[in-house]
Amino acid sequence: MKAPVNIEVDGQATGSVGRYPSQTPSRPIPDPTVIDRYLCIAPDVVIGLNVKFSKFVNLYGCEVGDDTKIGAFVEIQKNAKVGKRCKISSHTFICEGVTIEDEVFVGHNVTFVNDTFPRATTGTGTLQTDADWHVETTLVKRGVSIGSGATILANVVIGENALIGAGCVVTSDVPADAVMVGNPGRVLRYLKPRGTHE
Ligand SMILES: CC(C)(COP(=O)(O)OP(=O)(O)OC[C@H]1O[C@@H](n2cnc3c(N)ncnc32)[C@H](O)[C@@H]1OP(=O)(O)O)[C@@H](O)C(=O)NCCC(=O)NCCS
Repeated sequence: MKAPVNIEVDGQATGSVGRYPSQTPSRPIPDPTVIDRYLCIAPDVVIGLNVKFSKFVNLYGCEVGDDTKIGAFVEIQKNAKVGKRCKISSHTFICEGVTIEDEVFVGHNVTFVNDTFPRATTGTGTLQTDADWHVETTLVKRGVSIGSGATILANVVIGENALIGAGCVVTSDVPADAVMVGNPGRVLRYLKPRGTHE
């Protein structure tokens, strides 16, 4: 069985939590939701090796790959996946249904969306539950960079190595290597493809 995954917050080791993929937790986690006073990582989060966290993160039911850095005030919801060697900057929200492949840069205050027509309540006025709506998905492919303040609407695929400008609202698929800016996002130009190294 693999050793528990070490948690490092702002460069300081604070303990261990969660499980590496396919690892069954070997022991109960003392406090299942609070690992560090300012770090909320639920026990069902699958964390890779050498993942680094800033303070005030909130993660539940998600996966984070090896060597990824998660900034302060980041929330990652259940069934979201973040790949290896990613940088997720502070104040970003990654919702259920979002898959981020390896080596993706996500700037500050980036928002993903998984419900195109959100409602608080059902037609009869009761609060909606998970049964009352369905999760829409988003795929961010390898090597993408997303500028600060961007909003990524649901049902889009951002192609490999694309660059999303600061403040862009992405409403449709982004071709590989494209630079997209504006609201609604439009292709500004194309970058040279980056080398593959794996
Ligand atoms: C998108 C981006 C890469 C474009 O950089 P660039 O290729 O050097 O583009 P330029 O500065 O030459 O601008 C080209 C045109 O696009 C416009 N433009 C540039 N960035 C834009 C943006 N984010 N949103 C809207 N328009 C933008 C410029 O105004 C210019 O328009 P014009 O031709 O009508 O004058 C860059 O502006 C950007 O937003 N990078 C993201 C930075 C970021 O958020 N980093 C996060 C961590 S700090």
